[in-house]
Amino acid sequence: MTLIDGKAIAQKTHAESRAAVAELKARGITPGLAVVLVGDDPASAAYVRSKDRMCHELGMHSVKHELPAATSQADLIAIVRQLNADPAIHGILVQSPPPPHIDERAVIEAIDPRKDVDGFHPLNVAKLTLGDPDGFVPCTPLGCQRLLIESGIETAGANVVVLGRSMIVGKPMALLLMNKGPGGDATVTVAHSRTRNLAAVCRTADILIAAIGRPEFVRADFVKEGAVVIDVGINRVDDPTAPKGYRLTGDVAFAEVAPHCRAITPVPGGVGPMTIAMLMANTIASCRRFAARV
Ligand code: GUN
Repeated sequence: MTLIDGKAIAQKTHAESRAAVAELKARGITPGLAVVLVGDDPASAAYVRSKDRMCHELGMHSVKHELPAATSQADLIAIVRQLNADPAIHGILVQSPPPPHIDERAVIEAIDPRKDVDGFHPLNVAKLTLGDPDGFVPCTPLGCQRLLIESGIETAGANVVVLGRSMIVGKPMALLLMNKGPGGDATVTVAHSRTRNLAAVCRTADILIAAIGRPEFVRADFVKEGAVVIDVGINRVDDPTAPKGYRLTGDVAFAEVAPHCRAITPVPGGVGPMTIAMLMANTIASCRRFAARV
């Protein structure tokens, strides 16, 4: 069994990003990312801080808007429009999920699709569906694909089961894997909580991508001997013995699944670090596209 080291692979992509930022800066251009958080969900706040920190580490411009939970949709959209118009900003991310009084779709549609480094805008969803490389692809599935490529795991012709159908992970993951090219050309099944005989369907997978958002949902009987398992889950579960009172666990019951795998990602240290690495890469790509337009 191989442990897929997401931290190490993320470091490699950060090194590429650092070099790309230096090259752009030498031309007088600094890639800029704006991250907007509404409310005080502690996990979301931690993600937003780590994105901000990573921008600084790579030499990028970073703007962070931390707004109160009661912020109106109109005020949030006004901030998005300001960022759309700001030439120093090449990427805009509004942390999901927003508080319930905000219509997330309306906010996403307000983002300039050329700055939608999350790949959530309908135009970018369409481009991914079309296999058009000019769009942006959501960072978490892009990170999973990069992990597979960097680990030398062949996707062409492989049976892949994507467990989960969210717009952030499951659906774009399935599209990426079925599209043509490196990290693609797979035979993809999308399974979810309503799938009949779920464990049996997952057992058909050469590569199983677990993105269902339930701690340790994938047990040993979900996994074919010698399969590759990518665990997208980051679940906080109460643990009074842990220093913070909680621990992070994936969607996979790691201890019982890992012995059956050819390769598996740990949580933490698997997919998580790749998501932020892909966000930085998307922002740099956006900056390059803006520079090419003028
Ligand atoms: N919440 C969980 N993952 C993501 C992500 O990739 N982007 C945004 N905007 N919110 C998220």
